[in-house]
Amino acid sequence: MNRRARRRQGENTRSVRLPPVTAPRPGPLGLPVWRSSAWSFAGTAEQAEAFGEKGPGAVENPTVAAFAAAVASLEGAAAPEDVAGQAFASGMAAVSTVLMTFLGAGTHVVAPAPLYGGTYSLITNVLSRFGVSADFVDYADLHRVQEAVRPSTKIIYAETLSNPTMVVADIRSLYRIARAAGALLVVDSTFATPVVCRPLEHGADLVVHAATTYLGGHDDCAGGVVVGRPGLVARLREVAADVGGELSPDDAFLLRRGLETLPLRVRRMCATAMVFAAAVAKHPAVRRVHYPGLPGHSGHELGRHLFDSGPEGTRYGACVTVIPHGGYDAGVRLVDALRLVSVAATAGGTRTKATHAASTGPRQLGDGSSGVDAAAVRFSIGLEDAEDLIADVTAALDSLPGSRV
Ligand SMILES: Cc1ncc(COP(=O)(O)O)c(C=O)c1O
Repeated sequence: MNRRARRRQGENTRSVRLPPVTAPRPGPLGLPVWRSSAWSFAGTAEQAEAFGEKGPGAVENPTVAAFAAAVASLEGAAAPEDVAGQAFASGMAAVSTVLMTFLGAGTHVVAPAPLYGGTYSLITNVLSRFGVSADFVDYADLHRVQEAVRPSTKIIYAETLSNPTMVVADIRSLYRIARAAGALLVVDSTFATPVVCRPLEHGADLVVHAATTYLGGHDDCAGGVVVGRPGLVARLREVAADVGGELSPDDAFLLRRGLETLPLRVRRMCATAMVFAAAVAKHPAVRRVHYPGLPGHSGHELGRHLFDSGPEGTRYGACVTVIPHGGYDAGVRLVDALRLVSVAATAGGTRTKATHAASTGPRQLGDGSSGVDAAAVRFSIGLEDAEDLIADVTAALDSLPGSRV
């Protein structure tokens, strides 16, 4: 035995050089949380192979990678092997990395109006400073999308279900416009989830989620994810390594656990949203309800073709926007009169939430130019019993001055 092996190491060395952990057999059924932020290699050859040409991003945390792979398999159900995923610390980290990967100085993006306020602000306040130009158009009129396309257009950006008017994106037509333009079709599908719609199956190149909302689903973690063809995701991963925004393993664990109940939650929320929207639309204090499940909504027919259905009918998402008579004040009064429903600007989660769009400002509920009604109140439907939600909102509507109109 050589001298180095015989020598007894000091207590500090022994306390940080504890016996290595090996993978247990039988293997765990639940996802282990690998909290390690550093990875050791057998030697420089293995390290060089793992890192390739890029830096630290080359080593993926297995818990984080497991979450991204799970979303990729849900979004790419028709061809799981052709879909890869990359996880991020938030929805906006996912959105910004996609845009920074495929846009650059002198390029152009076409985006919808209304658009999630954070994405709108990113494009107009940040990317504009780096030479990216944009047009925001009403996607209900596809001619306007076509007209907005320029030779420099690299991305056509869409939201499967927009917020708060719940416009349904015509993903198949947008795909044709994007292909003809040589641009990528990027779809933020946060409000749909793969339980309602899988945009990759309709021609989208990349799908983005603010996992904070429905995928995690319990209001206790934050994250984002992008899925699409492995070649595109590999390019994104390189930029992600440069700009940061990595998801934490603890949040990855919660997000992946949320996926196990995603279909149960979302199916039930969509069914409740349908009943809720139909009941609220009949109230005399209500001027309008935006919910694509209602036959009068502009996205109703499109949704029937794009969205999944089950015994409960087509799933039209779980957000319902209610516009009471009486303008801004009526929206405020409606929210303040709710007793069961929580006042919160985020969507998803098990508890129903309401938010008055005009009070929360443009960030949560679309850009100011999109004509969001001053009275609009968005309900993100949760898992409570439909009758209790309807009773709460009916009582709140009854208290409005316009309730006996
Ligand atoms: C449609 C949409 N995209 C992106 C985001 C941004 O997600 P995050 O808040 O996790 O950054 C949100 C947040 O609610 C959203 O609703």
